[in-house]
Amino acid sequence: MRVAILGGDGFCGWPAALRLSAVGHDVSIVDNLSRRRIDVDLGTQSLTPIETIDTRLEDWQRRGGTRIGFVAIDVARDYARLLTFIREFRPEAIVHYAEQRSAPYSMRSSAEKRYTVENNVAATHNVLCAVVESELDCHVVHLGTMGVYGYSGTGPIPEGYARAKFEGLDGTWTEREILSPADPGSVYHMTKTLDQLLFSFYNKNDRIRITDLHQGVVWGTNTEECLRGEALVNRFDYDGEYGTVLNRFLVQAAVGHPLTVYGSGGQTRAFIHIRDSVECIRLAIEHPPSPGERVRIFNQMTETHRVADLAKIVARLSGAAIGEVPNPRREADSNELVVTRSGLQKLGLKPTTLEAGLLEEILGVAKKYAQRVDRERIASTSYWNAERRRAAEGKDPRSPPASSSTPARSPADR
Ligand SMILES: NC(=O)c1ccc[n+]([C@@H]2O[C@H](COP(=O)([O-])OP(=O)(O)OC[C@H]3O[C@@H](n4cnc5c(N)ncnc54)[C@H](O)[C@@H]3O)[C@@H](O)[C@H]2O)c1
Repeated sequence: MRVAILGGDGFCGWPAALRLSAVGHDVSIVDNLSRRRIDVDLGTQSLTPIETIDTRLEDWQRRGGTRIGFVAIDVARDYARLLTFIREFRPEAIVHYAEQRSAPYSMRSSAEKRYTVENNVAATHNVLCAVVESELDCHVVHLGTMGVYGYSGTGPIPEGYARAKFEGLDGTWTEREILSPADPGSVYHMTKTLDQLLFSFYNKNDRIRITDLHQGVVWGTNTEECLRGEALVNRFDYDGEYGTVLNRFLVQAAVGHPLTVYGSGGQTRAFIHIRDSVECIRLAIEHPPSPGERVRIFNQMTETHRVADLAKIVARLSGAAIGEVPNPRREADSNELVVTRSGLQKLGLKPTTLEAGLLEEILGVAKKYAQRVDRERIASTSYWNAERRRAAEGKDPRSPPASSSTPARSPADR
């Protein structure tokens, strides 16, 4: 299959591009490299030294991989070039990762909030418009998030759709299946709920075949293909803005920093290992929905864990201390989470679950590159609102908001 990977230079997109190429698909990456520029703006970097996209691709071919194409296009802003690319490459599947994906970054200031909405919503809409305008029968696979459902604990979370009863003004009841009610916890998550409506409309109106993968928090770093050479290594974010929780804890443990548990750590989240994340993409594109089928939604996660329990596991493994820091996020201090997740397993996913061997492997990567860690970047400096900022800074809740450190320039402002 010809597969376009939008956002293929990122943490999930890069290993997916390599895997799909390794199993015989003709892969082309589209990326505007905005994630690398955000690192520069935030004064941070991937824990693992990542090569330029050109070096990465050359190395893949040198090691016997099939050629992977690359085009630098801003999917949100350069519609004409996106359309030309799609017309020329004629993808049978488009995997859409090209969004700003950090919840803390999306809450940093109005500049990052606006950038996240403008980038993510426009990117998704441009992809859908370009598929319609190109008149290709192309399956769109999107990376959504488990965070669209919220964490208010109203029973098991279904895969995308819920049956709802509506009471009419005349007192009669009708029942229908709807998108599971959205309850985003950040501007980033909100963009993913808006994406869902875009998918629903274009699927209904233009019969685009769409799979929306509601992914859990990804942990781990390398896949089999990334390990074939130093230049193929995947990025590994450890900083307070982009690091995902388990990876952050493992790096903190490697450099002797107390594990930054927010509040009591009672928050339960869904997780998936990067190897499974990549495998899910292969399964989704090789088993597309039928023509006319409604948007297919899978919960792309393999297990749930309470943050405090993850901290205990990492502490046991590494001897790290556990620290309790004020939660910069506006969220419940603890929640239950039960998730339905049979869709991808029916397609053949064999879940990789949290086990000591895999954690030790990541801890090994973290120790290898420990000298690259900037301890100043470990704590998040993005707050959900002024109250959260004051609480974190130990200030009286009635005092005026503290002036923030200079917010990062967003790519949108450049
Ligand atoms: N990492 C996780 O734990 C996780 C969990 C759930 C969902 N997801 C979703 O998976 C997708 C990929 O996440 P990731 O962790 O690889 O993020 P990432 O930031 O590492 O990768 C995203 C890539 O998209 C590119 N990009 C962003 N906007 C673009 C645009 N307008 N045009 C072209 N390229 C653009 C970036 O340069 C980057 O290379 C995201 O949509 C994210 O929401 C990730």
